Amino acid sequence: METGNKSQTAAEQLTDRDLSEQIKKVTKESHVRAENTQLMLSFQRGQVTLAQYKLLLCSLHDIYQALEEALDRNCNHPGVAPIYFPAELARLESIQKDLEHFYGQNWRERIVVPAATQRYCHRLRQIGEENPEFLVAHAYTRYLGDLSGGQILGRIAQRSMGLKSNEGLSFFAFPGVSSANLFKQLYRSRMNNLELTEEQRNGVLEEAVRSFELNIQVFDDLQKMVNLTESQKTHSTHSEPEKSLQLPGTSVSASPLLRMFLGLFVALATVSMGIYVL
Ligand code: HEM
Repeated sequence: METGNKSQTAAEQLTDRDLSEQIKKVTKESHVRAENTQLMLSFQRGQVTLAQYKLLLCSLHDIYQALEEALDRNCNHPGVAPIYFPAELARLESIQKDLEHFYGQNWRERIVVPAATQRYCHRLRQIGEENPEFLVAHAYTRYLGDLSGGQILGRIAQRSMGLKSNEGLSFFAFPGVSSANLFKQLYRSRMNNLELTEEQRNGVLEEAVRSFELNIQVFDDLQKMVNLTESQKTHSTHSEPEKSLQLPGTSVSASPLLRMFLGLFVALATVSMGIYVL
């Protein structure tokens, strides 16, 4: 659903050598795949459920926490400083507000994330320590995505979940950005002025593809969790009260059988996390 360069103005004369153009080009195919994950299709079709959205928020919480900690820690790094916009872009606090809205004050105890989210966070922390100049790839993927398709998704999500106000939807709101298009132009120009060696530039491009890949894996894992929860609902009897699954740092409503099944799922996912080489 990308619209190419339609919104490009004369003030934004981009060339093939520009990082913003190269990054868009190398991630084009991944973008299409991300849009076509089941979870993103549910959003686009106006079928996203509260359960899906809440699970997504949990993962976004951990992802933005890792991303923003890495950006904050490296804010004076020459590869980060020009694209460091915490006042305009930071998402962590808004996600926390949304989580509190849906889960109440003890939301931290209710957070549940799949293995793919842990892998994504691990990668963010790793490059924050070893290659801060690659952070731009992740910041681009998430923030420019949030300022693009994310804006459409926010409006659809509100309707599909029947939410009357904007409560629970702070994640989609950027009060510090008055024009998403103008801000994206500024961001792209900052990206294009980063001083990168050829090797670093290639590393950033590779990292951007990896960033999309990590997002796709998160969406796929989340969808599997939603499917499991749905099948649990189908099989559980109304007479039995819901029980809580206690995984390290997580809590999921589940029947005993499903708890065992979910436990197996999480164990398998964690093993596959070890096998997957980042
Ligand atoms: C339902 C799913 C999605 C839809 C409908 C969608 C839609 C769009 C649209 C219309 C644009 C173009 C904006 C423009 O040219 O100004 C865009 C750009 C972008 N999207 Fe998505 N998107 C989706 C999912 C994603 C996901 C999952 C990610 C990343 C995890 C993402 C990352 C981006 C990025 C980084 C851009 C900026 C491209 C650039 O200008 O260089 N999108 N998206």
